[in-house]
Amino acid sequence: MRIGIVGTGNMGRALGLGWARAGHEVLFGSRDVKKAKAVAADSFVSAQTGDFDAAAVFGDVILYTIRDYFPSSALKEPQALSGKIVIDCNNSAILGLDLPDPGNRPGIHFTTPIPSHAEELAADAPGARVVKAFNTMAAQVIELDRDELMRRRVSVFLCSDDAQAKSVVKELAEELGFIGVDCGGLERAQLVEGVGDFIRFQIIGMSLGPFATISVNVAPAR
Ligand SMILES: NC(=O)c1ccc[n+]([C@@H]2O[C@H](COP(=O)([O-])OP(=O)(O)OC[C@H]3O[C@@H](n4cnc5c(N)ncnc54)[C@H](OP(=O)(O)O)[C@@H]3O)[C@@H](O)[C@H]2O)c1
Repeated sequence: MRIGIVGTGNMGRALGLGWARAGHEVLFGSRDVKKAKAVAADSFVSAQTGDFDAAAVFGDVILYTIRDYFPSSALKEPQALSGKIVIDCNNSAILGLDLPDPGNRPGIHFTTPIPSHAEELAADAPGARVVKAFNTMAAQVIELDRDELMRRRVSVFLCSDDAQAKSVVKELAEELGFIGVDCGGLERAQLVEGVGDFIRFQIIGMSLGPFATISVNVAPAR
């Protein structure tokens, strides 16, 4: 599968390199092509590089890692996303950490957006087959060895209005060692972004650290 990565930060690097190692063709897209090349150079397999638009054109699947910069402003040709599977892994900025808290409260505070980031992305990219996924674990978990990750049975919560797109992303998650958990349509991204805030509260606010994970499991019926 051809996968375009929009943004070469922690998530772009972790997921892009994971998929490249799993045998997918990956193109890392950055505003700074030197940064994209540095990320691709880490790979044990070859990966291509370019800008955000190159990633959008290249992929059958696009990983969209840019929070609050939607395609109509981040891409020169946002229509390139039409018909493509676009994974939204974004969570909102944490007040007191990523942004100053307007109320100057101590500690960190969360503002889970309604509509969700994923719904806003879908509204901004007509025809894109948006799937919410990968927002409820830290990049460090994604970078774990596949066998180690499989033992932990970590959920990737999946929401989309496109069942086929959701099943492709489930497979991409499971290739890395996660368990895909169907969470219904894109409307449910609001819930899943709330779960993203909850696990970040545990990781940062309760000091559990980046290897804290959250999963849904079903106990055997008695
Ligand atoms: N880090 C995690 O563990 C984690 C886990 C789950 C979800 N998330 C979510 O995933 C998203 C990405 O997180 P991250 O840790 O990868 O962030 P990051 O390392 O800060 O990277 C963010 C990306 O956004 C792009 N960017 C930054 N400012 C921009 C601007 N002004 N215009 C256009 N693009 C801009 C950058 O692209 P270039 O520099 O490549 O151009 C960069 O690749 C966030 O929404 C975050 O909440 C993160």
